[in-house]
Amino acid sequence: MAPKITKAVIPAAGLGTRFLPATKAMPKEMLPVVDKPAIQYVVEEAVAAGLTDVLMITGRNKSALENHFDRIGELEATLERKGDTERLEKVNYSTDLADVHYVRQGDPKGLGHAVLRARMHVGNEPFAVLLGDDLIDERDVLLSRMIEVSGEKNASVIALLEVDPSQAYLYGVATVEPTDESDVVRITGLVEKPPTGTAESNLIIIGRYVLQPQIFDVLDHTEPGAGGEIQLTDALQEVAENDIAGGVYGVVFRGRRYDTGDRLDYIKAIVQLAVDREDLGEALRPWLRDFVSTME
Ligand code: G1P
Repeated sequence: MAPKITKAVIPAAGLGTRFLPATKAMPKEMLPVVDKPAIQYVVEEAVAAGLTDVLMITGRNKSALENHFDRIGELEATLERKGDTERLEKVNYSTDLADVHYVRQGDPKGLGHAVLRARMHVGNEPFAVLLGDDLIDERDVLLSRMIEVSGEKNASVIALLEVDPSQAYLYGVATVEPTDESDVVRITGLVEKPPTGTAESNLIIIGRYVLQPQIFDVLDHTEPGAGGEIQLTDALQEVAENDIAGGVYGVVFRGRRYDTGDRLDYIKAIVQLAVDREDLGEALRPWLRDFVSTME
């Protein structure tokens, strides 16, 4: 039987330069998406898939992250005194959500390097990696399906999304062959950020991975690739090519994904999530219609 997966690794050491000056003194993972920091959505997703042991790979300037998932006695006491149980629940929720651990990356040498920093904590078990820039709508299933497929195949599994071919150069791109399940493919090749026009498919990697621990041995000798960084995609290419620990499969995601990695997509994500919110949607939707009509 495949071992149960309990650990999630969340790289959060990026400098967030695309959001300066907002990210000068605050990690980009703390930017609010509606009223929750982006990172909390990701932790909630991990917990919903049964992963309650979370390791964050952080860097300098990340104390706000640690504070967010910890008790803040003064704030709790003030809310308690005021009898504001609704807000108190919100504050306690992120504290109690998961068992969160931290390790620092040191030199920011790329995603592959960040994941390798998880080795001691993860040990010899399969584990998940969730990237904070991709938010998956909680109404759609992805991570739990990936965990299921990883158990069935006893292999590593990545999340894939079909995009317009003109966008492929921004991502890791997968070439695949079908399996007998319509949402599952076998990965035959992976390329990180192929130069424009050279991508062999329009299936991109989105930031969810279920990995076998053998990935650490591969990452240990993975040379810097695209952008001079040690790329997780390159390590997975080696795993796929040599069929290491069962090779690599992909789950093709057909649900809602929001990108919070750049400013325009971040704004879109906030609007998309807010219009569906029970507490905000009703007021926001008609306003948005009016606003759009004044632009036309
Ligand atoms: C990372 C991965 C890339 C993947 C992307 C998904 O790139 O290296 O393969 O497609 O996340 O968001 P980054 O966005 O960190 O440049």
